[in-house]
Amino acid sequence: MEGTPHRRRAHTSSRDLARYAGLFAARTGVMRSSAMRDLMAVTARPEVISLAGGLPDTSTFPAGTFAAQMTRIAQASTAEALQYGPTEGFAETVDCIVEVMGAEGMLPDPDDVIVTTGGQQAIDLVCKTLVDPGDVVICEAPTYPGAVPVFCSYQAETIQIECDEDGMRIEELEAVLARLDGEGKRPKFVYSVPSFQNPAGVTMSLERRRRLVELARQREMLVVEDSPYGLLRFSGEPLPPLYQLDGGDFVIYVGTFSKILSPGIRLGWAVAPPPVMEKIVLGKQASDLCSSTLTQHFVREYFGEGRWREYVASLVEIYRDRRDTMVEALREHFPAQATWTEPEGGLFIWATLPEYIDTGDLLAKALREDVAFVPGQAAYVDESRGRSSMRLNFSGVGAEEIREGVRRIGKAIGEQVELYGALTADSDAASTPAPPLESDMDAAEAPRPGVAEPAKDGGDVLPFRKTGESSA
Ligand SMILES: Cc1ncc(COP(=O)(O)O)c(C=O)c1O
Repeated sequence: MEGTPHRRRAHTSSRDLARYAGLFAARTGVMRSSAMRDLMAVTARPEVISLAGGLPDTSTFPAGTFAAQMTRIAQASTAEALQYGPTEGFAETVDCIVEVMGAEGMLPDPDDVIVTTGGQQAIDLVCKTLVDPGDVVICEAPTYPGAVPVFCSYQAETIQIECDEDGMRIEELEAVLARLDGEGKRPKFVYSVPSFQNPAGVTMSLERRRRLVELARQREMLVVEDSPYGLLRFSGEPLPPLYQLDGGDFVIYVGTFSKILSPGIRLGWAVAPPPVMEKIVLGKQASDLCSSTLTQHFVREYFGEGRWREYVASLVEIYRDRRDTMVEALREHFPAQATWTEPEGGLFIWATLPEYIDTGDLLAKALREDVAFVPGQAAYVDESRGRSSMRLNFSGVGAEEIREGVRRIGKAIGEQVELYGALTADSDAASTPAPPLESDMDAAEAPRPGVAEPAKDGGDVLPFRKTGESSA
Protein backbone atom coordinates (compact mmCIF):
# COMPACT_ATOMS: atom_id res chain seq x y z
CA MET A 1 0.00 0.00 0.00
CA GLU A 2 3.02 2.24 0.47
CA GLY A 3 2.77 5.31 -1.71
CA THR A 4 -0.86 4.65 -2.70
CA PRO A 5 -3.00 7.70 -1.93
CA HIS A 6 -6.02 6.84 0.23
CA ARG A 7 -9.22 8.78 0.11
CA ARG A 8 -10.53 9.72 3.53
CA ARG A 9 -14.24 10.11 4.02
CA ALA A 10 -15.13 13.60 5.29
CA HIS A 11 -16.55 13.59 8.80
CA THR A 12 -20.36 13.49 8.91
CA SER A 13 -21.84 16.37 10.89
CA SER A 14 -24.73 15.70 13.27
CA ARG A 15 -26.97 17.85 11.02
CA ASP A 16 -26.17 15.65 8.02
CA LEU A 17 -26.75 12.55 10.09
CA ALA A 18 -30.16 13.77 11.29
CA ARG A 19 -31.18 14.40 7.68
CA TYR A 20 -30.62 10.77 6.67
CA ALA A 21 -31.05 8.87 9.93
CA GLY A 22 -34.70 7.97 9.34
CA LEU A 23 -33.74 6.24 6.10
CA PHE A 24 -31.15 3.84 7.41
CA ALA A 25 -31.84 0.11 7.63
CA ALA A 26 -31.81 -1.28 11.18
CA ARG A 27 -28.68 -3.29 10.34
CA THR A 28 -26.63 -0.12 9.93
CA GLY A 29 -27.04 0.42 13.66
CA VAL A 30 -24.88 -2.64 14.37
CA MET A 31 -22.50 -2.40 11.40
CA ARG A 32 -18.86 -2.08 12.37
CA SER A 33 -15.89 -0.70 10.57
CA SER A 34 -12.98 -3.00 9.82
CA ALA A 35 -10.03 -2.10 12.01
CA MET A 36 -7.58 -2.87 9.20
CA ARG A 37 -9.46 -0.68 6.71
CA ASP A 38 -9.42 2.19 9.23
CA LEU A 39 -5.71 1.80 9.71
CA MET A 40 -4.92 1.67 6.00
CA ALA A 41 -5.19 5.44 5.59
CA VAL A 42 -2.51 5.87 8.26
CA THR A 43 -0.31 2.98 7.23
CA ALA A 44 -0.19 4.23 3.63
CA ARG A 45 2.10 7.04 4.83
CA PRO A 46 5.58 5.97 3.69
CA GLU A 47 7.20 6.78 7.05
CA VAL A 48 4.90 4.36 8.90
CA ILE A 49 6.09 0.80 9.47
CA SER A 50 2.93 -1.24 9.23
CA LEU A 51 2.74 -4.49 11.11
CA ALA A 52 -1.03 -4.06 10.92
CA GLY A 53 -2.26 -5.29 7.53
CA GLY A 54 -2.43 -8.85 6.33
CA LEU A 55 -0.44 -7.95 3.28
CA PRO A 56 1.45 -10.62 1.39
CA ASP A 57 4.70 -9.40 -0.15
CA THR A 58 3.66 -8.82 -3.77
CA SER A 59 7.06 -7.24 -4.54
CA THR A 60 8.42 -10.77 -4.95
CA PHE A 61 6.18 -11.49 -7.95
CA PRO A 62 8.33 -11.10 -11.09
CA ALA A 63 7.24 -8.00 -13.05
CA GLY A 64 8.34 -9.61 -16.32
CA THR A 65 6.04 -12.60 -15.77
CA PHE A 66 3.13 -10.29 -15.00
CA ALA A 67 3.76 -8.20 -18.13
CA ALA A 68 4.07 -11.29 -20.37
CA GLN A 69 0.84 -12.78 -19.02
CA MET A 70 -1.14 -9.59 -19.48
CA THR A 71 0.23 -9.27 -23.02
CA ARG A 72 -0.87 -12.81 -23.83
CA ILE A 73 -4.33 -12.06 -22.46
CA ALA A 74 -4.50 -8.94 -24.66
CA GLN A 75 -3.40 -10.87 -27.73
CA ALA A 76 -5.60 -13.93 -27.29
CA SER A 77 -8.63 -12.96 -25.24
CA THR A 78 -9.21 -9.21 -25.10
CA ALA A 79 -12.94 -9.44 -25.81
CA GLU A 80 -13.61 -12.15 -23.21
CA ALA A 81 -11.31 -10.61 -20.60
CA LEU A 82 -13.18 -7.32 -20.88
CA GLN A 83 -16.66 -8.89 -20.92
CA TYR A 84 -19.05 -10.07 -18.16
CA GLY A 85 -18.66 -13.72 -17.27
CA PRO A 86 -20.66 -16.49 -15.60
CA THR A 87 -21.66 -15.89 -11.96
CA GLU A 88 -20.02 -19.17 -10.93
CA GLY A 89 -16.74 -18.14 -12.60
CA PHE A 90 -14.95 -19.53 -15.67
CA ALA A 91 -14.49 -23.29 -15.76
CA GLU A 92 -10.74 -22.75 -16.28
CA THR A 93 -10.51 -20.68 -13.07
CA VAL A 94 -12.35 -23.43 -11.23
CA ASP A 95 -9.79 -25.93 -12.59
CA CYS A 96 -7.03 -23.80 -11.00
CA ILE A 97 -8.97 -23.80 -7.70
CA VAL A 98 -9.34 -27.59 -7.83
CA GLU A 99 -5.56 -27.79 -8.37
CA VAL A 100 -4.83 -25.54 -5.37
CA MET A 101 -7.17 -27.53 -3.14
CA GLY A 102 -5.65 -30.76 -4.47
CA ALA A 103 -2.26 -29.57 -3.18
CA GLU A 104 -3.75 -29.87 0.33
CA GLY A 105 -5.38 -33.23 -0.35
CA MET A 106 -8.90 -32.06 -1.19
CA LEU A 107 -10.88 -33.23 -4.19
CA PRO A 108 -13.85 -30.91 -4.67
CA ASP A 109 -16.41 -31.44 -7.42
CA PRO A 110 -15.94 -28.44 -9.77
CA ASP A 111 -19.74 -28.01 -9.84
CA ASP A 112 -19.67 -27.24 -6.09
CA VAL A 113 -17.23 -24.32 -6.57
CA ILE A 114 -18.03 -20.63 -7.06
CA VAL A 115 -15.40 -17.99 -7.84
CA THR A 116 -15.89 -14.98 -5.58
CA THR A 117 -14.51 -11.48 -5.20
CA GLY A 118 -11.98 -12.55 -2.59
CA GLY A 119 -12.54 -14.87 0.33
CA GLN A 120 -14.14 -11.88 2.01
CA GLN A 121 -17.09 -12.00 -0.38
CA ALA A 122 -17.40 -15.75 0.19
CA ILE A 123 -17.87 -15.11 3.93
CA ASP A 124 -20.40 -12.42 3.14
CA LEU A 125 -22.32 -14.68 0.73
CA VAL A 126 -22.38 -17.54 3.22
CA CYS A 127 -23.92 -15.17 5.79
CA LYS A 128 -26.31 -13.74 3.21
CA THR A 129 -27.44 -17.29 2.45
CA LEU A 130 -27.73 -18.60 6.00
CA VAL A 131 -28.11 -15.83 8.57
CA ASP A 132 -31.30 -14.01 9.59
CA PRO A 133 -31.15 -11.33 12.31
CA GLY A 134 -30.73 -12.94 15.71
CA ASP A 135 -29.41 -16.26 14.33
CA VAL A 136 -26.50 -17.80 16.19
CA VAL A 137 -23.08 -17.95 14.53
CA ILE A 138 -20.17 -19.51 16.40
CA CYS A 139 -16.55 -18.60 15.81
CA GLU A 140 -13.16 -18.58 17.50
CA ALA A 141 -11.99 -16.14 20.17
CA PRO A 142 -10.13 -14.27 18.78
CA THR A 143 -11.52 -14.52 15.24
CA TYR A 144 -10.58 -13.08 11.84
CA PRO A 145 -11.13 -9.32 12.33
CA GLY A 146 -12.59 -9.03 8.81
CA ALA A 147 -15.34 -11.54 9.68
CA VAL A 148 -16.56 -9.49 12.64
CA PRO A 149 -18.11 -6.69 10.51
CA VAL A 150 -19.79 -9.35 8.34
CA PHE A 151 -21.39 -11.15 11.28
CA CYS A 152 -22.46 -7.77 12.69
CA SER A 153 -24.01 -6.53 9.47
CA TYR A 154 -26.16 -9.67 9.20
CA GLN A 155 -27.20 -9.05 12.82
CA ALA A 156 -26.02 -12.47 13.96
CA GLU A 157 -25.79 -13.38 17.63
CA THR A 158 -22.12 -14.27 17.56
CA ILE A 159 -20.68 -16.59 20.19
CA GLN A 160 -16.89 -16.80 20.41
CA ILE A 161 -15.15 -19.95 21.63
CA GLU A 162 -11.72 -19.62 23.23
CA CYS A 163 -8.63 -20.80 21.37
CA ASP A 164 -5.45 -22.17 22.83
CA GLU A 165 -2.37 -23.28 20.95
CA ASP A 166 -4.35 -26.21 19.45
CA GLY A 167 -6.98 -23.88 18.03
CA MET A 168 -10.65 -23.68 18.98
CA ARG A 169 -11.40 -25.47 22.25
CA ILE A 170 -13.85 -28.07 21.11
CA GLU A 171 -14.93 -29.03 24.66
CA GLU A 172 -16.06 -25.46 25.12
CA LEU A 173 -17.85 -25.60 21.78
CA GLU A 174 -19.66 -28.75 22.90
CA ALA A 175 -20.75 -27.05 26.13
CA VAL A 176 -22.07 -24.08 24.16
CA LEU A 177 -23.92 -26.37 21.74
CA ALA A 178 -25.53 -28.18 24.69
CA ARG A 179 -26.61 -24.85 26.18
CA LEU A 180 -28.06 -23.74 22.84
CA ASP A 181 -29.94 -27.08 22.59
CA GLY A 182 -31.52 -26.24 25.95
CA GLU A 183 -32.59 -22.84 24.60
CA GLY A 184 -33.99 -24.40 21.42
CA LYS A 185 -31.42 -22.58 19.27
CA ARG A 186 -29.67 -24.20 16.32
CA PRO A 187 -26.49 -22.36 15.27
CA LYS A 188 -26.37 -21.54 11.58
CA PHE A 189 -22.69 -22.45 11.34
CA VAL A 190 -19.37 -22.65 13.13
CA TYR A 191 -16.78 -20.42 11.46
CA SER A 192 -13.15 -21.46 11.86
CA VAL A 193 -9.75 -20.57 10.43
CA PRO A 194 -8.10 -23.85 11.45
CA SER A 195 -4.67 -23.36 9.90
CA PHE A 196 -2.30 -20.58 11.03
CA GLN A 197 -5.26 -18.64 12.23
CA ASN A 198 -5.76 -14.97 11.59
CA PRO A 199 -5.18 -13.35 14.07
CA ALA A 200 -3.77 -15.81 16.64
CA GLY A 201 -1.42 -17.79 14.38
CA VAL A 202 -2.52 -21.04 16.03
CA THR A 203 -3.42 -24.26 14.21
CA MET A 204 -6.22 -26.63 15.17
CA SER A 205 -4.88 -30.05 16.18
CA LEU A 206 -5.83 -33.19 14.24
CA GLU A 207 -7.79 -34.52 17.19
CA ARG A 208 -9.88 -31.35 17.38
CA ARG A 209 -10.37 -31.27 13.61
CA ARG A 210 -11.72 -34.82 13.75
CA ARG A 211 -14.00 -34.03 16.66
CA LEU A 212 -15.34 -30.86 15.02
CA VAL A 213 -16.18 -32.74 11.83
CA GLU A 214 -17.74 -35.56 13.86
CA LEU A 215 -19.93 -33.01 15.70
CA ALA A 216 -20.93 -31.45 12.39
CA ARG A 217 -22.02 -34.83 11.03
CA GLN A 218 -23.80 -35.95 14.22
CA ARG A 219 -25.70 -32.68 14.49
CA GLU A 220 -26.06 -31.90 10.79
CA MET A 221 -24.37 -28.62 11.61
CA LEU A 222 -22.53 -26.55 9.02
CA VAL A 223 -18.90 -25.61 9.54
CA VAL A 224 -17.32 -22.83 7.48
CA GLU A 225 -13.62 -23.55 7.04
CA ASP A 226 -11.82 -20.37 5.98
CA SER A 227 -8.32 -21.28 4.87
CA PRO A 228 -6.24 -18.61 3.14
CA TYR A 229 -2.96 -19.81 4.70
CA GLY A 230 -3.01 -23.61 4.50
CA LEU A 231 -0.22 -23.77 1.92
CA LEU A 232 1.99 -21.30 3.80
CA ARG A 233 3.46 -23.78 6.27
CA PHE A 234 7.01 -23.10 7.55
CA SER A 235 7.42 -26.03 9.91
CA GLY A 236 5.62 -29.06 11.33
CA GLU A 237 3.56 -31.68 9.54
CA PRO A 238 0.65 -30.75 7.23
CA LEU A 239 -2.79 -31.49 8.70
CA PRO A 240 -5.86 -32.49 6.72
CA PRO A 241 -8.32 -29.65 6.10
CA LEU A 242 -11.76 -30.01 7.71
CA TYR A 243 -13.20 -30.21 4.19
CA GLN A 244 -11.10 -33.26 3.44
CA LEU A 245 -12.06 -34.98 6.71
CA ASP A 246 -15.75 -34.30 6.07
CA GLY A 247 -15.85 -34.87 2.31
CA GLY A 248 -17.90 -31.72 1.74
CA ASP A 249 -21.27 -32.70 3.28
CA PHE A 250 -21.26 -30.28 6.19
CA VAL A 251 -18.09 -28.25 5.66
CA ILE A 252 -18.29 -25.17 3.46
CA TYR A 253 -14.78 -24.30 2.32
CA VAL A 254 -13.58 -20.74 1.69
CA GLY A 255 -10.31 -20.16 -0.16
CA THR A 256 -8.48 -17.30 -1.82
CA PHE A 257 -5.69 -16.48 -4.26
CA SER A 258 -4.82 -13.44 -2.12
CA LYS A 259 -2.03 -14.98 -0.05
CA ILE A 260 -0.58 -17.36 -2.63
CA LEU A 261 -0.68 -14.99 -5.59
CA SER A 262 -2.18 -11.51 -5.13
CA PRO A 263 -4.91 -9.80 -3.11
CA GLY A 264 -5.20 -7.10 -5.78
CA ILE A 265 -6.79 -9.55 -8.24
CA ARG A 266 -9.66 -9.95 -5.71
CA LEU A 267 -10.33 -13.61 -6.41
CA GLY A 268 -11.36 -16.22 -3.90
CA TRP A 269 -13.85 -19.05 -3.84
CA ALA A 270 -16.35 -21.06 -1.87
CA VAL A 271 -17.14 -24.77 -2.08
CA ALA A 272 -20.50 -25.83 -0.68
CA PRO A 273 -23.00 -28.70 -0.91
CA PRO A 274 -25.19 -28.24 -4.03
CA PRO A 275 -28.37 -26.96 -2.27
CA VAL A 276 -26.34 -24.34 -0.38
CA MET A 277 -24.36 -23.45 -3.50
CA GLU A 278 -27.56 -22.77 -5.45
CA LYS A 279 -28.50 -20.07 -2.93
CA ILE A 280 -24.96 -18.67 -2.80
CA VAL A 281 -25.03 -18.25 -6.59
CA LEU A 282 -28.31 -16.32 -6.35
CA GLY A 283 -26.79 -14.16 -3.63
CA LYS A 284 -23.76 -13.40 -5.77
CA GLN A 285 -25.90 -12.52 -8.79
CA ALA A 286 -27.55 -9.86 -6.67
CA SER A 287 -24.24 -8.64 -5.24
CA ASP A 288 -22.02 -8.21 -8.28
CA LEU A 289 -23.14 -10.48 -11.15
CA CYS A 290 -19.70 -12.06 -11.51
CA SER A 291 -16.11 -11.77 -10.33
CA SER A 292 -13.53 -9.96 -12.45
CA THR A 293 -13.13 -11.73 -15.78
CA LEU A 294 -9.86 -9.93 -16.41
CA THR A 295 -8.19 -11.28 -13.29
CA GLN A 296 -9.70 -14.74 -13.84
CA HIS A 297 -7.82 -14.70 -17.15
CA PHE A 298 -4.69 -13.71 -15.30
CA VAL A 299 -5.05 -16.68 -12.93
CA ARG A 300 -5.57 -19.01 -15.87
CA GLU A 301 -2.43 -17.75 -17.61
CA TYR A 302 -0.42 -17.90 -14.43
CA PHE A 303 -1.45 -21.45 -13.55
CA GLY A 304 -0.96 -22.44 -17.20
CA GLU A 305 2.76 -21.81 -16.71
CA GLY A 306 2.78 -24.52 -14.05
CA ARG A 307 5.10 -22.70 -11.66
CA TRP A 308 2.67 -21.57 -9.00
CA ARG A 309 3.95 -24.09 -6.45
CA GLU A 310 7.50 -22.76 -6.87
CA TYR A 311 6.23 -19.25 -6.14
CA VAL A 312 4.38 -20.41 -3.03
CA ALA A 313 7.54 -22.24 -1.92
CA SER A 314 9.51 -19.01 -2.32
CA LEU A 315 6.94 -17.14 -0.19
CA VAL A 316 7.23 -19.81 2.50
CA GLU A 317 11.01 -19.28 2.65
CA ILE A 318 10.63 -15.50 2.90
CA TYR A 319 7.89 -15.58 5.52
CA ARG A 320 9.67 -18.18 7.66
CA ASP A 321 12.67 -15.86 7.92
CA ARG A 322 10.42 -12.92 8.73
CA ARG A 323 8.59 -14.87 11.42
CA ASP A 324 11.95 -15.78 12.96
CA THR A 325 13.04 -12.15 12.78
CA MET A 326 9.86 -11.00 14.49
CA VAL A 327 10.12 -13.59 17.25
CA GLU A 328 13.74 -12.58 17.90
CA ALA A 329 12.75 -8.91 17.99
CA LEU A 330 9.89 -9.64 20.39
CA ARG A 331 12.31 -11.40 22.73
CA GLU A 332 14.62 -8.43 22.59
CA HIS A 333 12.17 -5.55 22.82
CA PHE A 334 8.98 -6.70 24.55
CA PRO A 335 8.88 -6.80 28.34
CA ALA A 336 9.34 -10.08 30.17
CA GLN A 337 5.65 -10.35 31.04
CA ALA A 338 4.52 -10.29 27.38
CA THR A 339 3.59 -13.55 25.67
CA TRP A 340 3.07 -14.38 22.02
CA THR A 341 2.31 -17.20 19.64
CA GLU A 342 4.96 -18.71 17.39
CA PRO A 343 3.04 -19.81 14.32
CA GLU A 344 4.09 -22.69 12.09
CA GLY A 345 2.81 -20.79 9.07
CA GLY A 346 0.64 -17.93 7.88
CA LEU A 347 1.23 -14.23 8.39
CA PHE A 348 0.49 -13.33 12.01
CA ILE A 349 1.72 -13.37 15.58
CA TRP A 350 -0.67 -12.62 18.43
CA ALA A 351 0.95 -10.94 21.40
CA THR A 352 -0.60 -10.38 24.82
CA LEU A 353 0.53 -7.79 27.34
CA PRO A 354 -0.31 -7.31 31.00
CA GLU A 355 -4.00 -6.56 31.52
CA TYR A 356 -3.42 -2.97 32.54
CA ILE A 357 -2.18 -2.12 29.03
CA ASP A 358 -4.95 -1.24 26.59
CA THR A 359 -3.65 -1.89 23.08
CA GLY A 360 -6.11 0.66 21.64
CA ASP A 361 -4.37 3.38 23.69
CA LEU A 362 -1.01 1.84 22.91
CA LEU A 363 -1.76 2.07 19.18
CA ALA A 364 -2.27 5.84 19.45
CA LYS A 365 1.16 6.06 21.08
CA ALA A 366 2.71 3.70 18.53
CA LEU A 367 1.32 5.72 15.62
CA ARG A 368 3.14 8.75 17.00
CA GLU A 369 6.26 6.60 16.66
CA ASP A 370 5.21 5.74 13.08
CA VAL A 371 4.45 2.09 13.65
CA ALA A 372 1.09 0.29 13.47
CA PHE A 373 -0.46 -3.00 14.61
CA VAL A 374 -4.03 -4.24 14.97
CA PRO A 375 -5.40 -3.93 18.53
CA GLY A 376 -6.83 -7.21 19.83
CA GLN A 377 -10.37 -5.96 20.35
CA ALA A 378 -10.87 -5.96 16.53
CA ALA A 379 -10.96 -9.75 16.77
CA TYR A 380 -13.92 -9.81 19.16
CA VAL A 381 -17.57 -8.99 18.63
CA ASP A 382 -17.72 -7.85 22.24
CA GLU A 383 -15.22 -5.02 22.08
CA SER A 384 -14.50 -5.17 25.77
CA ARG A 385 -12.48 -8.32 25.06
CA GLY A 386 -8.97 -8.66 23.66
CA ARG A 387 -7.92 -5.28 24.99
CA SER A 388 -4.46 -6.27 26.11
CA SER A 389 -3.61 -8.19 22.94
CA MET A 390 -2.41 -7.22 19.49
CA ARG A 391 -2.01 -8.79 16.06
CA LEU A 392 1.37 -8.37 14.42
CA ASN A 393 1.93 -9.10 10.74
CA PHE A 394 5.35 -10.31 9.61
CA SER A 395 4.82 -10.80 5.85
CA GLY A 396 4.32 -7.27 4.58
CA VAL A 397 7.68 -5.65 5.38
CA GLY A 398 11.33 -6.73 5.36
CA ALA A 399 13.51 -7.85 8.28
CA GLU A 400 14.92 -4.43 9.08
CA GLU A 401 11.48 -2.84 9.32
CA ILE A 402 10.16 -5.74 11.40
CA ARG A 403 13.00 -5.23 13.90
CA GLU A 404 12.57 -1.47 13.98
CA GLY A 405 8.76 -1.71 14.18
CA VAL A 406 8.88 -4.13 17.11
CA ARG A 407 11.53 -1.97 18.80
CA ARG A 408 9.26 1.08 18.58
CA ILE A 409 6.22 -0.82 19.90
CA GLY A 410 8.40 -2.24 22.69
CA LYS A 411 9.45 1.30 23.60
CA ALA A 412 5.80 2.44 23.76
CA ILE A 413 4.96 -0.56 25.95
CA GLY A 414 7.93 0.18 28.21
CA GLU A 415 6.60 3.70 28.77
CA GLN A 416 3.14 2.32 29.67
CA VAL A 417 4.69 -0.17 32.09
CA GLU A 418 6.69 2.60 33.73
CA LEU A 419 3.67 4.86 33.97
CA TYR A 420 1.61 2.09 35.53
CA GLY A 421 4.40 1.40 37.99
CA ALA A 422 4.59 5.06 38.95
CA LEU A 423 0.81 5.44 39.29
CA THR A 424 0.39 2.34 41.40
CA ALA A 425 3.79 2.63 43.07
CA ASP A 426 4.02 -1.01 42.06
CA SER A 427 7.64 -1.80 41.53
CA ASP A 428 6.49 -5.25 40.42
CA ALA A 429 4.51 -3.84 37.46
CA ALA A 430 7.05 -5.25 35.11
CA SER A 431 6.47 -8.75 36.40
CA THR A 432 2.68 -8.73 36.21
CA PRO A 433 2.00 -11.54 33.82
CA ALA A 434 0.00 -11.39 30.62
CA PRO A 435 -3.32 -13.22 30.67
CA PRO A 436 -3.97 -16.17 28.39
CA LEU A 437 -5.34 -15.71 24.89
CA GLU A 438 -8.06 -13.39 26.11
CA SER A 439 -8.40 -11.69 29.41
CA ASP A 440 -11.54 -13.15 30.89
CA MET A 441 -9.73 -14.27 34.03
CA ASP A 442 -9.51 -12.33 37.22
CA ALA A 443 -6.12 -10.75 37.66
CA ALA A 444 -5.93 -12.78 40.86
CA GLU A 445 -6.38 -15.96 38.86
CA ALA A 446 -3.82 -15.03 36.24
CA PRO A 447 -0.92 -17.42 35.84
CA ARG A 448 2.49 -16.50 37.13
CA PRO A 449 5.19 -15.81 34.57
CA GLY A 450 6.53 -19.01 33.14
CA VAL A 451 3.95 -21.13 34.94
CA ALA A 452 1.42 -22.84 32.69
CA GLU A 453 -2.12 -22.50 34.02
CA PRO A 454 -4.02 -25.79 34.01
CA ALA A 455 -6.88 -25.47 31.54
CA LYS A 456 -10.45 -26.25 32.48
CA ASP A 457 -10.36 -29.26 30.14
CA GLY A 458 -7.01 -30.35 31.48
CA GLY A 459 -5.16 -29.02 28.40
CA ASP A 460 -2.68 -26.19 28.25
CA VAL A 461 -4.59 -22.94 28.21
CA LEU A 462 -1.52 -20.81 27.61
CA PRO A 463 -1.29 -20.32 23.89
CA PHE A 464 1.91 -18.36 24.00
CA ARG A 465 5.50 -19.15 24.49
CA LYS A 466 7.06 -17.13 27.23
CA THR A 467 9.71 -14.62 26.34
CA GLY A 468 13.03 -16.26 25.84
CA GLU A 469 11.59 -19.76 25.45
CA SER A 470 12.91 -21.40 22.35
CA SER A 471 10.65 -22.00 19.40
CA ALA A 472 10.02 -25.56 18.37
C1 LIG B 1 -9.01 -15.60 7.52
C2 LIG B 1 -9.24 -14.72 6.35
N1 LIG B 1 -10.35 -14.87 5.62
C3 LIG B 1 -10.60 -14.11 4.56
C4 LIG B 1 -9.72 -13.11 4.18
C5 LIG B 1 -10.09 -12.27 3.01
O1 LIG B 1 -9.18 -12.34 2.00
P1 LIG B 1 -9.49 -11.95 0.52
O2 LIG B 1 -10.83 -11.29 0.43
O3 LIG B 1 -8.39 -11.05 0.11
O4 LIG B 1 -9.48 -13.23 -0.23
C6 LIG B 1 -8.54 -12.91 4.91
C7 LIG B 1 -7.62 -11.84 4.57
O5 LIG B 1 -6.69 -11.52 5.25
C8 LIG B 1 -8.29 -13.74 6.01
O6 LIG B 1 -7.20 -13.63 6.77
